[in-house]
Amino acid sequence: MRKVRIALTKGRLENRTVDVLEHLGYDVSMLRSKGRKLILEIPGAEIEVVLAKAADVITYVEHGVCDIGVVGKDTIMEHGGSFFEVADLGFGRCKFALAVKKGTDFYSGYSEKTVATKYPNVARNYFADKSMDVRVIKIEGSVELAPLLELSDGIVDIVETGTTLRENGLEVQEDVAAVSARLIVNPASLKMRKKELEPLINAIQQAAREMRLK
Ligand code: PRP
Repeated sequence: MRKVRIALTKGRLENRTVDVLEHLGYDVSMLRSKGRKLILEIPGAEIEVVLAKAADVITYVEHGVCDIGVVGKDTIMEHGGSFFEVADLGFGRCKFALAVKKGTDFYSGYSEKTVATKYPNVARNYFADKSMDVRVIKIEGSVELAPLLELSDGIVDIVETGTTLRENGLEVQEDVAAVSARLIVNPASLKMRKKELEPLINAIQQAAREMRLK
């Protein structure tokens, strides 16, 4: 049988996840100096690490080719899927917010509003919950440009430090949802490999908790 495979989100969440694995006692030197390698063995360990883009972490876990994954709640909210979300790991904290040009009000006036976002499902669900008809335009990155260029009345985007909004003359009008790193598991793997996965999941949760206390 293959080793237990854990999919990590490349980029912002990567370092903190590697810190968690190190805290668990794994030799993560290969992960720290990985070059362009995408599947990494951990010397002497029963796990194998796969590095993927956030939405692909979900895809690999959903299909069971990876057993567990670490991915942001932002991607989970946008992408959905059939997996178990077993823990909030507490790092990678940020939020989804509705932001507008400073001093403007998204809800003023009677015309149909337009929102630009990298997360169309999150935006649609948010306004559907408010029973509001809003036109959603998908943007691939640097969404802050859309209201500045008057393509949209606002954006639904990730806010971490608030610097990007501030430096572009935008401000948060409303918080939409809190975001942080989550541990996800393939349901079939959990059933079939319970003996290996349960202790690993508990250990990852525990390590993330201990690191938060530091
Ligand atoms: C995210 C997000 C904001 C920025 C927020 O973008 O879409 O633009 O980070 O962070 P801050 O509040 O700390 O300034 P990302 O860096 O992922 O780049 P992108 O917009 O080009 O996708």
